[in-house]
Formats: sequence, structure tokens, C-alpha cells
Amino acid sequence: MQLLSQFLRRNDTDEQLMDLIATLMVACKEIALQLREGALAGVLGTTDITNVQGETQKKLDVISNEIMKTVLLNHSLVAGVASEEESESVPGNPDGRYLVVFDPLDGSSNIDINVSVGTIFSILEAPKDQDYSTEHPYLQSGRKQIAAGYVLYGPSAVLVLTTGKGVNMFTMSHTGDFLLTRENVMIPEETREFAINMSNHRFWEPAMRNYVDDLLLGADGPREKNYNMRWVAAMVAEVHRVLTRGGIFTYPWDARSPKKPGKLRLMYEGNPMSMLIEQAGGLATNCYSDIMDVEPDDIHERVSVSLGSRKEVEALMEYHAQVESTKEA
Ligand code: AHG
Ligand code: MN
Ligand code: MN
Repeated sequence: MQLLSQFLRRNDTDEQLMDLIATLMVACKEIALQLREGALAGVLGTTDITNVQGETQKKLDVISNEIMKTVLLNHSLVAGVASEEESESVPGNPDGRYLVVFDPLDGSSNIDINVSVGTIFSILEAPKDQDYSTEHPYLQSGRKQIAAGYVLYGPSAVLVLTTGKGVNMFTMSHTGDFLLTRENVMIPEETREFAINMSNHRFWEPAMRNYVDDLLLGADGPREKNYNMRWVAAMVAEVHRVLTRGGIFTYPWDARSPKKPGKLRLMYEGNPMSMLIEQAGGLATNCYSDIMDVEPDDIHERVSVSLGSRKEVEALMEYHAQVESTKEA
């Protein structure tokens, strides 16, 4: 079996990028250990702190964020970080080469019920001579990502990584090493599985309602096949399922917060997941265009996310294009 470092070297990965990824894994390994101890370490439950998203932080949101920040900001290659749990970006070494944007713990409502969560990260080049305590240098589109990935803390801890040369999976061993367990992941083009929070049905746009209603009609409807549904309530687990066996995952705009483009965050959820999905042959869209083409105005900007098996995502986009064309007519 191949170690992460051996695999990256074999693939001619930049030495400094390899160094940064190894450092990220030091943080993720520590988060995995905290999660494994759970109630024994007193890390379950909620704090009384509300983050910039207006969400109450779980203890493990705070702990994971501190681990990521401490490990990354102690590394000379890191010019700064931005996190879901930090209202402002945090500067590191002004001569550092990279910016790291992350969701320290995704799916944190799953922590207390002992269900999968994960850490999502996006690596950007740090533009030279900028103030990394301001958000400006971080506001780069997903297309500019140098690398992206996540660690899913499920029954096993799995790193899913792209450096722009395909997607590979590495499983954490009992020694804390990440070993290559799936190479060159490709998502099946078609699927019979979808993931959406159905309880928001009445708040969606008509196009999204039409699309899901037709999925529910199964073989008797226009899509002419029966679909199955899954909802883990952790994007990281939904994306892992899609990368493993295909499917479509969508968290669309909804009328509960009409001014926000969606619930998920562009820079540390939408973009890194979109890079993985595209690198695995799938599509990632806001229902109208590629998520990675969105130019961000805010580190915590939100986005409508639909991603997965290429043909299924294209079908969803077609429903949206049709509603738009009847509006114009
Ligand atoms: P986070 O825990 O980082 O705030 O993200 C949770 C997100 C995402 O992972 C998941 O897909 C979605 O919220 C679940 O939302 P619902 O609770 O509306 O199902
Ligand atoms: Mn999240
Ligand atoms: Mn989170």
C-alpha cells in the first residue's frame, strides 16, 4: 500500500504543496482522535457562542477550528486562513505561499448522534504583498484552487484529495498514516439516487419542485426510472457517497432566506467539493452555471449547490432553463 506522501511524490506534486497537505493531515488526525473519544473527552454538546453564520457552535466546531488554526498558522508556508468559524480571515506568515480556507467540521448537527462529519479544505495561492488579515486576497473563484479535499470521519477516516490531477482516496490507519485506498475516482454518469432535504419542498423555486416531483414519479413519470433517496445532513458524507457510487446532491436556494443564494458556503463548501466533483467527471452547478466560475464578494458568501452524476445534473439544469425560457417568452 502507498502512503499519501509516496503517492504525491510519484505524481510530481510540488514539494511545498506536499508539505502543506502533510501539515493539514496532522490537524485532521488530531480532530479524528477528538471525535473518537467523544463523550469520554467531554467534547460533545453545544457552547453558548454564535458564529458569524448565526449558528450556535458545537464544542467540536470550536475545538476543530482551534486545531486547524494552530497547526496551519504555525507553518511558514501559510500566509493566512479563513474559516467558517471565524468572522474575519486570520493572517499567518506574510511571506507564505498559500491561503487555506476551511470548514473545520461539516455536518456538526451529527456530532451528538454519532453520525459522520468531516473537515473540508480549499488551498489557494496567496497573492503577493497583500494584507492577509483582510478578505481581499482570499476572494478568488473556485477555478483558482490549487488543491481541495476533505477528511470524512465515518466508520473509518478517509482523505479525499485533488491537486488538479484527478481524485484519490486515502484511509487513515491505526498508526495515523493515510494510505491510498482508491485511485482515480470517476463518478458514474447516470444515477437513480438523489439527496435533498425534502422538508424544504414548499420553499423551493418552481423548477426545483418540478424536477424533484418528477423524480418521485419514478418509472411512471417522465424520467422513466425509480429513484432512491438519501439525506445524511452532512455535505461531506453526501459528496462521499456521490464520489463512491454516483448520485445527485442538492441544497438549492429556498424562500426561507430569500436574499441568500443558498445555505451552503461558496468558499469552503461549494468550491472545494465542486473541484473534487469536476475532477471525478461530474458536474457542480448553482442550477444555472458552474459553481467554480462564481466570483466571490465575501468569504462567507453562500451558494446554491447541485452536484454529482453528469447526466442527472444536466437534467436538473434543463428544468431550470425551461422555467427561465417560459419567463422570457
Ligand atoms: P455545517 O455543519 O458546517 O454548518 O454544515 C451543515 C450543512 C451541510 O453539511 C449539510 O448538507 C446541511 O447543512 C444540512 O442542512 P439541513 O440541516 O437543512 O438538512
Ligand atoms: Mn459545513
Ligand atoms: Mn462547519
